[in-house]
Order: sequence, then C-alpha cells, then structure tokens
Amino acid sequence: MWLYKLFKSIFKKTPDRVNKTRYRPVKTTGFVAPQIDMELKSQLWAVGGGKGGVGKSLITVMLGASLTRWGKKVILVDADLGGSNLNLLTGIKYPRYTLIDFMQRKVENIEEIALNTPVENLKVICGADDILGIANPKNAQKIRLFNHLKHLKADIILLDLGAGTSYTTLDFFLFAPNRIILLSPQSTAMQNAYGFVKTCLLRKLTRAFRNDAECMKLINRCIDSGEDERIDTITKLKDAFTSLGKEQGSKLSACIKSLKMGLLINMVKEHKDINLGRSFITVANEYLTINPEYLGFIEYDKRVDKSINRMADFLKDGMGIITEMGFYDLASKIVKKMYKESLSLKSEVANSKLQNSTNTNNKITVNKV
Ligand SMILES: Nc1ncnc2c1ncn2[C@@H]1O[C@H](COP(=O)(O)OP(=O)(O)OP(=O)(O)O)[C@@H](O)[C@H]1O
Ligand SMILES: [Mg+2]
Repeated sequence: MWLYKLFKSIFKKTPDRVNKTRYRPVKTTGFVAPQIDMELKSQLWAVGGGKGGVGKSLITVMLGASLTRWGKKVILVDADLGGSNLNLLTGIKYPRYTLIDFMQRKVENIEEIALNTPVENLKVICGADDILGIANPKNAQKIRLFNHLKHLKADIILLDLGAGTSYTTLDFFLFAPNRIILLSPQSTAMQNAYGFVKTCLLRKLTRAFRNDAECMKLINRCIDSGEDERIDTITKLKDAFTSLGKEQGSKLSACIKSLKMGLLINMVKEHKDINLGRSFITVANEYLTINPEYLGFIEYDKRVDKSINRMADFLKDGMGIITEMGFYDLASKIVKKMYKESLSLKSEVANSKLQNSTNTNNKITVNKV
C-alpha cells in the first residue's frame, strides 16, 4: 500500500514534470503506420518500458529462446536503433548483416538479414548504432521496415525496444499488436514506464484524430496547454470529447481501449517488489484509463548477471537457467494468450462474415497453436 501511495504522490505532486518537461510533446509527424492484418495479430510482440537497464533485451532473448521450446519459429529484432546490443546477447560478435543493410537498401528483403543463433529456430535481426542518423529514420524508411516486418516468416517476432520515448520507439510499440511493458522494482522505472505509456497513448490519439481540428485542440491541451486551461487527466479529456459530440467521445474511448499491453516485473528480489506492478496498473487505470494485464514476474538471478559476457555459451548450454527462472511458464502463458486471441479473432471474423452474409453455411475453422 505504501508503494502505491509513494507512486501516486510522484504523479500528484509533479504532473508538470511528468507531463511536460521530462517527456517530449507528441506531435503529428505525418507518420501513418501500415495497417495490421489479422495474421499478424498474434505474431508480433514489442518489449518496451521507457527505462534503460530494466532487462528488455535480456528478457526478449530469454523469452524468444523459451518460445522455441514450444515449437515456435522465433525472430528477435533489435529495434533499439542507435543503442543495439541484441547481437552480443545472442552470441554474435560481428553480425554479417544488420538493419543498416536493410535501411540503406543493400539488401532488398529483411529476411536476408535474419541471422541464425546458437538456438535452433531462433533467429536475430541485429541493429547497429554506429551510423549517424540511424536512431531517427525517415518516415519512408520506417514504413518500409514495418511493411517488411509484417511479412517475416516466423511464428513469433519479438521486438526489443530502446529506452526513452523517441518517436521511433513509440511507433514500434504502437505498431506491434502485442505489447509488453517491462518494469524493474524501482520508482524511477515505474515513473519512466508510466511516462512511456502516457506518451504512447498521446501519440496514438494524435494519429487517430489528426484530421479533426477540434479534437486535436483538446489533445494538445493534454500535451502543452499554451494559453488554454490544461487538461491533466484522460478522464477530463474524455469529458471534453463527449461535449464535442457522442461520436467523438466513443471514438476516443475505443482508441484508448485498443491500447492493450501486458506488464512484466523483472529483477524481483522480494515479494513486496511484485506489489509495484499492482500499483502501476492502478495508477495507469486511474490516470490514463488503461488497463495493463499483469503477465507475471522474473526474479533477480545472479547467474544471469554473471553470464552476460558469455551469452553465446549461455544460449548454447544454459537453457537450464532459462527454464529455472520460469521463462518456460511465461512463454506458455504468452502462447496461451495467443491461442485465446486467435480464437476470439477468428470468431470476430466469423461474426462479421455471418452478419455480412445471408449464407449461414460458411464454416470457420479455428487454428490451434
Ligand atoms: N532477471 C535478472 N537477473 C539478474 N540480472 C538481470 C536480470 N534482468 C536483467 N539483468 C541485468 O540487467 C542488465 C541490463 O539488461 P538489458 O541490457 O537487457 O536492459 P535493457 O532494458 O535492454 O537496457 P537498454 O534500455 O539500455 O537497452 C543485464 O546486463 C543484466 O546484467
Ligand atoms: Mg536493451
């Protein structure tokens, strides 16, 4: 309870720091993410969380390796443009190809730069951070990259995001239909993760309402009020939208509701650390009206810290540690979630097909994962 109070006080006392100074305003940059099709829904996962060093890259690798044990073909993508290190974590010191080769059109298809790792069925697309400007790709480059990611041949694609709230990181996170927020049990990680989720939400809203000047005026009052009175909670934003019209109010609610994500706590040392996750969910609910789903926690394990410099061997021989740390269960949870989602997705398709057709003989098959 005290953690919740502490966390809440951070946002109550310093809303301006959280909302304005620390996190850059989210502007429309003209970027429109490519449409996500049905098949992609269960495949693409982004691991983000705002704060550096909470274990995003490590968890991405361990999760990917565990998913291969479920018979899945997995591709990890180093989406930490400008701060990449997934290659080292997967035991590839000098990658033959990196995302730079794709961005600079040295290869035409992203499939060509997916490299094998010591784990069967686990591939990695390495990033690069030694090229000026790579951290801020142009919209056309981003759209091409996203379009190629959509067509990667894998059961599961895991995007390892960088720290912070750059537009590129936010866009990767929003592009993935399945999102994981990773937290470590420190108030700084909580604050950064909250800021990350809030900025994502505002970016999503900015995109959804970019052609509606009235709505944009209200959204901008959440970001930077200027002369007008500030809108400091999403609940107030919802009220303001409803006063514009029922349609705008419903569109806003639907847009917020569609920002789904799971929450994982990493480096848990004692039981009370897990409570931070609950506090995070409560605060996200209260202030942003979104409901992250609690996925579980990963304990702090000295062996991981020690073996980080010999990750090649770790992936080759150390699958035992991954299993002992509960990744196998975590992976199974995610697979089950995929299964549930693919079921509900298929039934959504089924319903719309039935509604749109007078022929009720259409048979819809459900793929089991
Ligand atoms: N469960 C864990 N047990 C022990 N150590 C861990 C655990 N998770 C992460 N670490 C340690 O935290 C370090 C940072 O992890 P990682 O590089 O994955 O963070 P990150 O969130 O990707 O950081 P960045 O945002 O800078 O890319 C690792 O090198 C490892 O030493
Ligand atoms: Mg990282």
